[in-house]
Amino acid sequence: MSVRIAPSILSADFAALGNAIAAVERGGADLIHVDVMDGHFVPNITIGPPVVASLKRVARVPLDVHLMITDPDKYIGAFAEAGASMISVHVEVLPHLHRTVWAIKQLGVKAGVVLNPATPVVAIKEIAPDVDFVLVMSVNPGFGGQTFIPRSESKVAEVRALLDAAGSDAPIEIDGGIDQTTVGRVVRAGARILVAGSAIFHTPDPERATATLRAAAETALASPASR
Ligand code: DX5
Ligand code: ZN
Repeated sequence: MSVRIAPSILSADFAALGNAIAAVERGGADLIHVDVMDGHFVPNITIGPPVVASLKRVARVPLDVHLMITDPDKYIGAFAEAGASMISVHVEVLPHLHRTVWAIKQLGVKAGVVLNPATPVVAIKEIAPDVDFVLVMSVNPGFGGQTFIPRSESKVAEVRALLDAAGSDAPIEIDGGIDQTTVGRVVRAGARILVAGSAIFHTPDPERATATLRAAAETALASPASR
């Protein structure tokens, strides 16, 4: 399985999102990671379906929509309609996670489940065979530019083992504090979709930062320790 780079536009200039997307696509971005926050599940507020629909008009790569909201069931239809190719939902807010995952899949969208740093891997044991990907948060969600939580590395390996045991080859995405210094560790632990916001957009050259991150990820993937 190869690695995919998913720049998070949370750290881009919101007045120039089209330019931001074009730059990272030139740098080799595989996905555009879109962080949706509602001011309830997380303290921050970002964007909704109309903005995703506008991004869809300019993006050439698929949109990966990360819902950090308390009531995702209410909005998955709108985000699918807006053009999301992947939608991930937090297990912490969903008592009927199986229903939600299948509702996403039935919309023709890849369904992901997200684990906060304090949420144990066992929370996704029963849903593991159904999901298209698992997103491991390596910071507490809500803001870009936070420091990678080191324990996330072993958590990725634990999720990989759980998915393997379930007979699933669903990829693991990791989100938070991913940069040149952390990317190798998480790839070697089993992460294959790498979200990066500040490491790409808080640089003078997001195109080049995307390419540099990909090169570091591919080097780690080629190392013998990689799963
Ligand atoms: C945080 C978001 C992330 C954020 C990552 O809640 O889910 O996607 O953009 O930003 P960095 O890469 O700066 O940690
Ligand atoms: Zn995110």
